[in-house]
This record gives sequence, structure tokens and C-alpha cells, in this order.
Amino acid sequence: MRRFEDKRVLITGGARGIGQATADRFASEGARVLIAGRLGDVVEQTAGEIGRKHGTQVLTCAMDVSMKADVEGMMTVVGEHMGGVDVLINNAGVCYTTPFLDIPEETWDQIIGMNLKGHFLVAQAVAREMVKARSGVIVNMCSTNGLVGEANYAPYNASKAGILLLTKTIALELAPYGIRVNCVSPGAIVTPLSAAPGDESLSDEYIRTHIPLGRTAQAEEVASVFAFLASDDASFITGESIVIDGGQIAS
Ligand SMILES: NC(=O)c1ccc[n+]([C@@H]2O[C@H](COP(=O)([O-])OP(=O)(O)OC[C@H]3O[C@@H](n4cnc5c(N)ncnc54)[C@H](O)[C@@H]3O)[C@@H](O)[C@H]2O)c1
Repeated sequence: MRRFEDKRVLITGGARGIGQATADRFASEGARVLIAGRLGDVVEQTAGEIGRKHGTQVLTCAMDVSMKADVEGMMTVVGEHMGGVDVLINNAGVCYTTPFLDIPEETWDQIIGMNLKGHFLVAQAVAREMVKARSGVIVNMCSTNGLVGEANYAPYNASKAGILLLTKTIALELAPYGIRVNCVSPGAIVTPLSAAPGDESLSDEYIRTHIPLGRTAQAEEVASVFAFLASDDASFITGESIVIDGGQIAS
């Protein structure tokens, strides 16, 4: 399948984990990919690997999605090197686990800033360009933690619940311009983020008791849903969240 031949795809947080697998998936289907994210050298390295694998050039931009000036800088790179964005994969995010009673105010601001505000800033900047083109697709990164509560993840869960309603709201506002907006809501996916110290979500016991399919997922299993939602196969889907969790929150 090469559903994205010459489509311009911007992926935030594409240096590793789900974003990296998604960049690889879009490049494999013919897209012109730009990876934006923190840790410029890792972004460069990932882009180089994906580019060599698929015989294409993957563009890069070192930036922090929670900083408006960085997002503006990213849009300048987009304008100069791609001339626009057909697909935004708004993926960058951080996780954080601490009991509610112990969360410092600055940590709350940081997590909401990187996850929720970051999604807002990037989606708004890209949508303004998509509106001029009267076409485009935005896929945001939510989580099962944005749909059901889980103890000790208050700012993360609040940020992801915010992204869900951000998705639905801007889907309504952008539909008249032919722009679709959806999100994916993964459960337990194996990435550097999910292996964070203190995160028990991948223990054998947890998997046995919480995930009906009896396993965690690979990042590629989220990348394929990103690609589906970005493709014409999903041409009548907007304002939707697709849960990718092996049945974890089905009951
Ligand atoms: N891994 C899971 O089980 C899981 C489940 C549900 C949702 N998610 C979401 O998927 C997304 C990707 O997670 P992952 O598991 O691949 O994690 P990861 O840590 O492997 O990758 C996250 C990427 O985002 C980048 N990033 C983080 N904050 C950023 C910022 N402020 N500006 C720019 N780049 C930033 C990181 O540098 C990294 O490259 C996150 O939004 C996460 O909340 C992950």
C-alpha cells in the first residue's frame, strides 16, 4: 500500500517510540515526512535511519511543542521545505506518575503544557495553513487514560481527556474547510515511555488481569491506526477516537 504518495506529513515526537514507528509507516507508504521533536540529535538519527530504509529524505526540526516560538519556527521549516502539511500526527507527549496529594504545581503545569497546550499550539498553527488549502487531516494522540481514570496519573489523565475534547471540538470547527480531526487512544504499548521507572503497567500480573488479549502492543500497531485515520479509507470519520488497547477498557 502506498496511500500517501507525495503527501506532506508532519509528526511531532517522531524521534522514538510510537512517533518513530509512525514516521516509518508513512515513509513506507510514499509520504514526505518531517519529524519534529525535542532532542535534536535523536531526531536527526531517526530521520536518517528511516530515510535510508525507504530511499527518501526525512526532514527534521528540533523543537518543544509547548513553546509557541518553537512551533512558529517549525512552521517556517514546513513552509520552506514542504510548502504545507497534508497530514499532522500530533503525537508528542510525556507521562508522569505520582500520587495526587504529592503533585507539585510546577509539575502539573509542565505536563499539561507539554501534552495539552502542546497539542493546541501545533494543531492551531497547522490548521491555519490547512484552512487556506481547504483540506487536511489531523490525528491527535489521546490515551485510554483520557477515557477512564487510573490512580497516580492525575495531570497525564487530565491532559489526555483534554486532548479528546479538543479533538472533537476542532473537528466541528474545521469540518466546513474539509479538514478531518480524530485521535487515537492507545492502552499499553511497548515504548521507552511505557518502561519509565515506577510504571507497573507492563508487569505480567497487570497484563494477565487487565488486558483481555493477554499482551501489550507494539508501536507499529498504533502507527497503522494513525495511517488509517489519515488515509482516504477514513474519509467520513471525524471527531472520533479509536481505542487501541486489546480490550482493556471494553468492560
Ligand atoms: N506508550 C504507551 O503505552 C502510550 C499509551 C497511550 C498514549 N501514549 C502517548 O503516545 C505518545 C508517544 O508516546 P511514546 O510511548 O512513543 O513515548 P516516547 O517517550 O517513546 O516518545 C515520545 C516522543 O515525544 C517527544 N516529546 C516529548 N515531549 C515533547 C515536547 N514537549 N516537544 C517535542 N517533543 C516532545 C520525545 O522526545 C519522544 O521522542 C505520547 O503522547 C503518549 O502520551 C503512549
